[in-house]
Amino acid sequence: MNMKNLIFTLLFFAVAMFQSSFVKAEGEEEKVEMSPENRHCLQCHGNKYYSFYNEVAERTEHKLMNPYFVIDSVSYLQGEHQGHYCTDCHLEDYNTYPHAPELKLEPKISCLLCHDFSAIEEEVSQSVHYEALGDQFHCELCHDPHSNKIVKSNIEELIEYNNSRCLNCHNNIDKYQLLVSHKNPEILKTHSWLPNQTLHFQHVRCIECHTAVNDTAEALHHILPKEQAVRKCVECHSTNSMLSNKLYKYEKAKDPKGGFYNTVILNDSYVIGANRNKYLNNISLLIFALTFGGIFIHIVMRIIKRK
Ligand code: HEC
Ligand code: HEC
Ligand code: HEC
Ligand code: HEC
Ligand code: HEC
Ligand code: HEC
Ligand code: HEC
Repeated sequence: MNMKNLIFTLLFFAVAMFQSSFVKAEGEEEKVEMSPENRHCLQCHGNKYYSFYNEVAERTEHKLMNPYFVIDSVSYLQGEHQGHYCTDCHLEDYNTYPHAPELKLEPKISCLLCHDFSAIEEEVSQSVHYEALGDQFHCELCHDPHSNKIVKSNIEELIEYNNSRCLNCHNNIDKYQLLVSHKNPEILKTHSWLPNQTLHFQHVRCIECHTAVNDTAEALHHILPKEQAVRKCVECHSTNSMLSNKLYKYEKAKDPKGGFYNTVILNDSYVIGANRNKYLNNISLLIFALTFGGIFIHIVMRIIKRK
């Protein structure tokens, strides 16, 4: 790394840290309180244990809560539905416990009932998941309605959160086998061709390689069959890295003219190969030329001397 790169990298981290501390401060200001209505549900669904009065046995009972029915109140209050009552999406009948048995049969509400996401719906219906599993593969498998949020402020958090959408299931045999009977392929093994995997998974999203490469718009929800996944290093490690239209569009959006962020991320430090410097290129060409020239002169001299 040369001096200029180093300075840009340091500057970039300084700005990133400055920004993330700002965002935190904003978040603290507009802190949302959990409503008493929701607290009623969360006295049971917010904990590992719950208690209720058993009218038949005439005593209070303590029981374990099914871990998949536990709603984390901290992430609920950070999610985009923080202001919603549980009963906006679940029937009022849940207010009584024991819950009536027929509530189990009630179809769960869908994102699409309240939002018009028709373009996304279209893409999802073309994805490998939908082709293999149909309607069973619904939005909520990747977007937990109790915690879903769109991270835009911090690129590392964005990547981690995004990948967790996929890994929650691909790394969890219980969730995976709820859909298919075969075992989940081990992500680390199936990507062993990728050098320095941990670093890559921290710096790119799964969808970078698993959705269509498109110059203009990204089709985030169109997950392609594995044969069509990106394997070529140059798709990212090159001057016109596809990342500039995918992952880094968030940075670009902050600065549409492609100023500071774009320079740092695409031209300086982030992706090897995406940061070619024409002076360095020319110098290395010159070094090559001199080396070969030297060898050539050496050979010629030796041939002449022999004679
Ligand atoms: C006294 C504890 C308690 C309270 C209060 C409570 N629940 Fe439950 N809930 C449970 C338990 C335990 C289950 C597991 C299944 C069962 O026992 O019926 C459950 C199951 C559920 C399920 C899953 C049903 C299924 O099988 O798919 C939903 C959804 C649910 N509760 C929503 C709510 C909502 C919304 C509220 C508040 C309006 C609420 N619950 C209040 C204890 C409670
Ligand atoms: C924006 C709509 C929405 C809100 C608000 C909401 N839920 Fe849910 N909830 C859903 C949907 C949709 C499902 C089904 C998810 C699935 O099938 O993957 C669900 C599932 C559940 C389940 C069962 C888990 C399961 O896997 O079936 C419980 C328990 C639950 N919700 C409790 C709550 C509680 C308690 C609250 C309030 C703190 C709440 N929900 C608020 C939409 C919502
Ligand atoms: C009961 C209706 C309802 C359901 C079901 C629902 N939402 Fe929402 N959602 C809303 C409302 C209302 C808002 C606006 C909240 C606010 O501004 O405080 C919202 C906000 C959002 C936002 C943020 C939009 C913005 O501009 O800030 C996103 C993204 C979102 N929902 C996605 C989803 C997804 C994904 C699902 C399914 C997992 C879903 N919603 C299910 C009603 C719903
Ligand atoms: C296979 C997992 C998966 C499924 C299924 C899925 N999504 Fe997404 N969704 C994602 C990922 C990954 C992102 C990227 C989020 C980001 O970049 O922050 C996303 C982003 C979004 C966004 C934000 C878009 C934006 O530009 O910021 C919305 C809204 C959304 N999804 C709604 C839906 C709806 C509605 C469905 C069902 C029709 C759905 N998703 C199904 C994984 C999924
Ligand atoms: C650098 C590009 C790249 C990234 C990043 C990436 N993948 Fe892949 N993935 C591939 C390629 C290429 C294949 C095809 C491998 C093969 O067929 O041998 C693949 C295969 C897969 C498969 C199929 C495995 C099988 O054997 O059936 C799954 C599932 C998968 N990836 C999920 C993920 C998830 C989840 C993430 C994020 C944590 C991710 N991938 C990140 C390129 C990538
Ligand atoms: C709720 C579980 C779940 C989630 C969430 C999920 N997947 Fe999958 N995925 C599956 C299952 C199950 C299969 C296997 C389908 C089959 O074998 O027919 C699969 C298959 C795949 C395949 C292989 C397709 C092929 O050609 O064999 C890829 C690639 C993949 N998923 C990527 C992703 C990515 C990327 C995400 C996140 C954006 C994601 N998945 C989210 C359950 C999930
Ligand atoms: C989806 C885009 C993408 C693909 C495809 C990709 N890379 Fe990367 N690669 C990155 C990013 C982003 C980084 C992180 C750069 C950083 O911040 O250090 C990285 C880092 C690396 C590093 C580590 C550099 C270091 O600092 O240690 C190596 C080596 C590397 N990639 C080689 C490869 C090879 C070889 C392939 C093809 C098999 C490949 N990459 C495919 C995006 C990609």
